[in-house]
Amino acid sequence: MKPLSLGVLGSGKGSNFVALAEAIRLGEVPAEIVLVASDRADAAILALARERKMAVYACRRGAFRTKLEPEIERDLAQALASAGVELVVLAGYMRVLKSSLLEKFPGRIINIHPSLLPSFPGLHAWEQALKARVEQTGCTVHWVNEQVDGGSVIRQVKVPVRTGDTPESLHARIQEAEHRLLPEVVRDLAEGRIPWPEDPRR
Ligand code: GRF
Repeated sequence: MKPLSLGVLGSGKGSNFVALAEAIRLGEVPAEIVLVASDRADAAILALARERKMAVYACRRGAFRTKLEPEIERDLAQALASAGVELVVLAGYMRVLKSSLLEKFPGRIINIHPSLLPSFPGLHAWEQALKARVEQTGCTVHWVNEQVDGGSVIRQVKVPVRTGDTPESLHARIQEAEHRLLPEVVRDLAEGRIPWPEDPRR
């Protein structure tokens, strides 16, 4: 079977992208990353992609912090489509998705979030978990819709909160779980073991 073509979107340090790229390189995930894109030209994720000789795309600078202007998002969606992306993977992408991306890739966008959704959506979910004094939190991969961290859950991993945890120590433990979960979900989607709302290959 042809490997699943992925577009990875991120705004930050790109550790989930690296975990996914490594799992693919080791033959554990039948997929290929055909484009790595960011809303920030200086994001570390783009430098990491260039080191791996992958195609990269940086959005033009816009006026807002939490969303892209419609024409900037439209160009991003077009770049992903032109690269032949079948599944868009949000890995630390910090903007709310609007109609261009959602309509170009209906039922074909997943996100990784550092909590057990629906608990603690939004920013700094590990700090929210500490403040709420829960005994466990975790990470979630979910389908993306127009609500922030709101689409249906695909799979979750629980992570314990330990006595004396700081935001940093808890976030690091959650990220270790994320780095296992994201490649596993992409593998199972690529192998048809997780049902797709809209599978481009059917
Ligand atoms: C991850 O914790 C992910 O859950 C959240 O943003 C963070 C991205 O980290 N959506 P990285 O850039 O992959 O290191």
